[in-house]
Amino acid sequence: MDPSSAPHPETPADPGRREFLTKACTVAVGGVATIPPLLGGIAVAFDPVRRPNPSGTGFVRVTRLEALPADGVPRKFTVVSDRVDAWNKFPETPVGAIYLRRISETEIVALHSTCPHAGCFVDYVPGRNHFWCPCHNSAFGVDGSIETVGSPSARGLDGLAVEIRNGNEVWVKFQNFRTGSAEQIPV
Ligand code: FES
Repeated sequence: MDPSSAPHPETPADPGRREFLTKACTVAVGGVATIPPLLGGIAVAFDPVRRPNPSGTGFVRVTRLEALPADGVPRKFTVVSDRVDAWNKFPETPVGAIYLRRISETEIVALHSTCPHAGCFVDYVPGRNHFWCPCHNSAFGVDGSIETVGSPSARGLDGLAVEIRNGNEVWVKFQNFRTGSAEQIPV
């Protein structure tokens, strides 16, 4: 066998191949280095959308006292408010739903209609005088407290602040809360 034709383990890499590998590494490292700033830019661009809607933190006029049954049976209302994001304003848009219950001449209790477990809408069941979530069978007392033993929901229905203004207007501080948590955390 001709020794010159045998592969030599210590033969240096082909210069062209070495140059190609060097350039490929440079491109790969450069590409990885641009990912964090790129992600940061995307986050900044979309941040206003992710931010809580400022109009969702204020009081909203929902109804009048006379619309609520005097016997304390809850009644469901759609909450309508201006919705604003970084680029648009949507006037008079449904932003959620609540239950209102009249507990005296001038006292109203407001409960969010969303189940704190995973966000399904709860229904008021007149025959049992309680709220029930059809998604995973959580039940809540008419005051919003947990009724189910081993309840899937870790907390009761979320209460909302209520004010009576101008004699008979019912205003509610509508806001959403994180689901799946035992704590009431505004989002
Ligand atoms: S979403 Fe209501 S019990 Fe799961």
